[in-house]
Amino acid sequence: MKTGFIGAGKVGFTLGKFFSEKGVKVTGYSSRNTSSAKEAAQFTSSRYFHEMGDLIQESDVLFLTVPDAAITPVWDQVRQYPIRGKYICHCSGARSAEDAFPGIQQTGAYEYSVHPLFAVSDAYTAYQKIPDVFFTIEGNTAHLGKMMEFLKNAGLQVQVIDPSCKTKYHAAASVASNLVIGLLDMSLSMLEECGFSREAALGALTPLVRGNVEHVLTDGPAASLTGPVERGDTETVCKHLNCLDTPSDRALYSLLSERLIPLAKAKHPERSYRPLEELLRSFEQEEL
Ligand SMILES: NC(=O)c1ccc[n+]([C@@H]2O[C@H](COP(=O)([O-])OP(=O)(O)OC[C@H]3O[C@@H](n4cnc5c(N)ncnc54)[C@H](OP(=O)(O)O)[C@@H]3O)[C@@H](O)[C@H]2O)c1
Repeated sequence: MKTGFIGAGKVGFTLGKFFSEKGVKVTGYSSRNTSSAKEAAQFTSSRYFHEMGDLIQESDVLFLTVPDAAITPVWDQVRQYPIRGKYICHCSGARSAEDAFPGIQQTGAYEYSVHPLFAVSDAYTAYQKIPDVFFTIEGNTAHLGKMMEFLKNAGLQVQVIDPSCKTKYHAAASVASNLVIGLLDMSLSMLEECGFSREAALGALTPLVRGNVEHVLTDGPAASLTGPVERGDTETVCKHLNCLDTPSDRALYSLLSERLIPLAKAKHPERSYRPLEELLRSFEQEEL
């Protein structure tokens, strides 16, 4: 299916380049600024469209790769053109297709959200990573089979999710990426309080963090768990909690430690974690 892009930014460049390398006919780009659309067209050996209507007419599939807040305003422009039978997609993780394209049923077009579980930070190189990236899709059920076939034939790994799960799915991605950054930042600040420079702290954490993430990704969370919670070492956990300076840091440490206990129990069903559970609960009652 011939595929066009409205919004020549990081994701538009990346998907267009990937599709064109996989033999999908990329019609081209329209964007807010002429220069972005021209650059994207050059990068993907496709065309720049001055008129959005011409791009729409020549495309079977349209990706609205604009910032989340611009998706519905751009959709309001797109729906002014004849779009019956066309596949209209956005790439936001936070919005469902139905929410982003209000009134699409009346136009005869089919709505989809196609979200890459990946941070696209460079418009020119990220396409090389796309074979490893996982995409989720939700939207018009009647034509989902055809859309899946198109995306899979184009070389994407895609999983269908229920629209009602879209927000939870996006929150899950944030937990694994953004919130981990919050935890690492907390650890770096604590090391700085121990006399490390920021640079030395980053260097010191690198093998620990890399090894941990690689272990979890290979063997799963329970098999990778080590440390005082796994050992049921209530005294050490208590000392850790008492050395933290703020109620929010103590609450964070305590709640995450509590989250680890079922994993520790799965690994050591013979051990009692009751004293540790009681300690954590008493801290949480104080801090929350
Ligand atoms: N980047 C990521 O890591 C990532 C990951 C997953 C999903 N997504 C999703 O992908 C979508 C696009 O994100 P992005 O990172 O590619 O954003 P981006 O790099 O900021 O690019 C968005 C492009 O949209 C164009 N644009 C803005 N308003 C427009 C309008 N009213 N009409 C036409 N074009 C307009 C801008 O074009 P001009 O240059 O012409 O002004 C800009 O280049 C978003 O829904 C985002 O949530 C992004």
